[in-house]
Amino acid sequence: MTTNIRGIVACISAIALIVSCDRTKRREIAVIPEPLSARTSDGTLTLKDNIYISFNDTLLKPLSEYVASSLGRMGIDASTESGGTPLNLRLTASHRPEGSYTVEINSKSITIAAPSYEGIVNGVATILQMIPTDSSRTLRTAVINDTPRMRWRGLMLDCARHFFTVEEVEELLDVMALYKLNKFHWHLTDDQGWRIEIKRYPLLTKRGAWRRFNGHDRECMRLARVQDNDDLLIPESKLRINGTDTLYGGFYTQDDIRRVVRYAAVRGIDIIPEIDMPGHMLTAMENYKGISCFDNIGWGETFSSPLCPGKESTLEFARNVYAEIFDLFPYEYVHIGADEVEKNNWERCPDCRRRMRENGLENTEQLQAWFVGEMEEFFDANGKKLIGWDEITDDELPGRATVAWWRSWARNAVNKALSNGNDVIICPNEVFYFDYGQNETTLKKLYEYEIIDPSTELDLRDRIIGAQANTWCEWIPSRERLYYMIAPRIMALSELCWSDPSNKDWKRFSHKVTRHLPLLESRGIPYRPLDITAVADYGAHNTEPQPLQASYAYTSPIDMLFVSPTPGSTVRYTVDGTTPSVTSQAADSPVKVTETTDFSLRIFTANGKGGETVASRVTIAPCSPADTDARPTGLGLEAVWHDYAGDICSGIEEAPVRGTFKTSKVTIPPGVKGNIGLVFTSYIDVPRDHVYTFALNSDDGSQLWIDGSLTVDNDGEHAPRTVTGQKALAKGLHPVKIYYFDHNGGTVSLSLVENGHETIIDGEMWKM
Ligand code: ACM
Ligand code: ZN
Repeated sequence: MTTNIRGIVACISAIALIVSCDRTKRREIAVIPEPLSARTSDGTLTLKDNIYISFNDTLLKPLSEYVASSLGRMGIDASTESGGTPLNLRLTASHRPEGSYTVEINSKSITIAAPSYEGIVNGVATILQMIPTDSSRTLRTAVINDTPRMRWRGLMLDCARHFFTVEEVEELLDVMALYKLNKFHWHLTDDQGWRIEIKRYPLLTKRGAWRRFNGHDRECMRLARVQDNDDLLIPESKLRINGTDTLYGGFYTQDDIRRVVRYAAVRGIDIIPEIDMPGHMLTAMENYKGISCFDNIGWGETFSSPLCPGKESTLEFARNVYAEIFDLFPYEYVHIGADEVEKNNWERCPDCRRRMRENGLENTEQLQAWFVGEMEEFFDANGKKLIGWDEITDDELPGRATVAWWRSWARNAVNKALSNGNDVIICPNEVFYFDYGQNETTLKKLYEYEIIDPSTELDLRDRIIGAQANTWCEWIPSRERLYYMIAPRIMALSELCWSDPSNKDWKRFSHKVTRHLPLLESRGIPYRPLDITAVADYGAHNTEPQPLQASYAYTSPIDMLFVSPTPGSTVRYTVDGTTPSVTSQAADSPVKVTETTDFSLRIFTANGKGGETVASRVTIAPCSPADTDARPTGLGLEAVWHDYAGDICSGIEEAPVRGTFKTSKVTIPPGVKGNIGLVFTSYIDVPRDHVYTFALNSDDGSQLWIDGSLTVDNDGEHAPRTVTGQKALAKGLHPVKIYYFDHNGGTVSLSLVENGHETIIDGEMWKM
């Protein structure tokens, strides 16, 4: 190459660099949550064999120990002995929002500077993510300036339904810190177990922390067997054999609690203990008298029988328990729960009736509000702020309480709380429940959620202090299952709470996730592999893999390519209905499909662990013939409304009929509400011989039948969900039936999908 040409090339490269600098350089930083501002430069820093941690304030000493142990786990020696690559922790005097930090990586050292301890913790998380998990140990030089959007970035763990040990909780706190989550909401008591030692009431844990296997335990064990999934087994370490009795459980002593509190504090995490009352209190009432309305406690119509707010002894019990809680947790917030209270007993109980009479309370809703108000006064007198689930907005709302909005269907709770001057934490179950399946509450759905609804008045927005995910553990008996449910969703939660909406990008985020799964793996943290993707008719369409569909249809043989986007994992499949095992056929090259085939597919990670099994039918058949005898006389569909409270489509037609309607598309006719079943009948008129793709969206369940065969199965109780299915249809009319059911407010629609675009089917296409 001549000098001249090299000069021209250099010049073109420089221009290209200037033009692309901002975007390309940002993308090199695979930090989650996405930092506010991150700039890399051309240099590198190669870490020496050991890291020399220094700090400018003794406050940071415990943090330096945490950093050293985290690096140690990655195989990197770190200490406060000089010599290795410097990692400087610097508390500074600048005025920046809480949690802000700056990280500077130059060719010789790393410096994390922040005006607060919490900020340094966040900077440490960034560095722990940036150090490569392989042996290269080389970082790009960079400057990152970062500030969280929300001050409440929470995760709730239910240790009552299934118990998690101190070590398991500490490990979770490490993962939270790695993703800059700063509020650990610890659900410590419930009907199924009491997990925290209360000195004044020892039976709460002596007896209440242990149980014989309940229905959830037995079902978990059954599922472990039928799904070939050891994560669902009850860990033997949590069993206690008492003669012929096997008891399950465990609890935290007050020393354990103090240990976890110290551990969390080092990682900049506040703990919010929840002692759920007045409902969800069976374990307490089973062990102490004088706190229930009647002697026979147990399950009511929907929930368990609650505490009796009419009795002074109940208030004394509650205050005594909280007094010990206040001593143990040195934070501003304590959670009272107050969700799902079945109040029938209160109507019949003489003590409750007297309480209502004496306080001028007109109904049991007001009695619940009175009880929460009494407790709030006690919290207040002890310098604590009360948090309650959004049921506390159902009647008069205590003025200073913070509301955790979980009932997706009760959006009004947020508006009521905000306009009343209360703070709100956003965690609606449709999006933020990590115990819900990830096929419905998907990573993308969570990532794309907006915490502040755009309709919220500007001057009320500051009262939305953040969001949190809730992990209820009825169906999560083990640490392994826990991570399967929360990772990688915890990453989406983190970016959602931290990064400004204008700084969110789904494509960039999903790419980052594929780089973070090995990071979790290097720390021994399990996770759910990313969903299987596929290229259907691979020979003809050598395109980007798309989300796997439940059904495909082709008129002649094709090749299917199944892909796992998770690094180091393998898709394995069977075609005989059995659950794929680690020795089943690997889908590492295109699969030839010459006849209709039902695939069962499952991802196995590098360590041989299998995920859940997913089904996909590939139909190879000529176009289904049109019904040439059909003589429709008009347009639209007939919709028959049944009074139906069931939870699958197959029972709808046997239920009593409430009315018949004519509709122009698949939708709920006006006035149809309650527990409903709908059966739509019509002919679909298709314009040509073709494979048609249908998208059936519903909340709850639905099914699409065409020419007498099930084409889309979206059955069962669930939140809004779209399922697609394909069918090859000859030009002309085809009889169609759509079944749909819902309980108290849902949605249903049917679209055609063409080139990725969905169009609702209406107008001339429906003939009846
Ligand atoms: C809740 O899910 N009952 C808060
Ligand atoms: Zn009572």
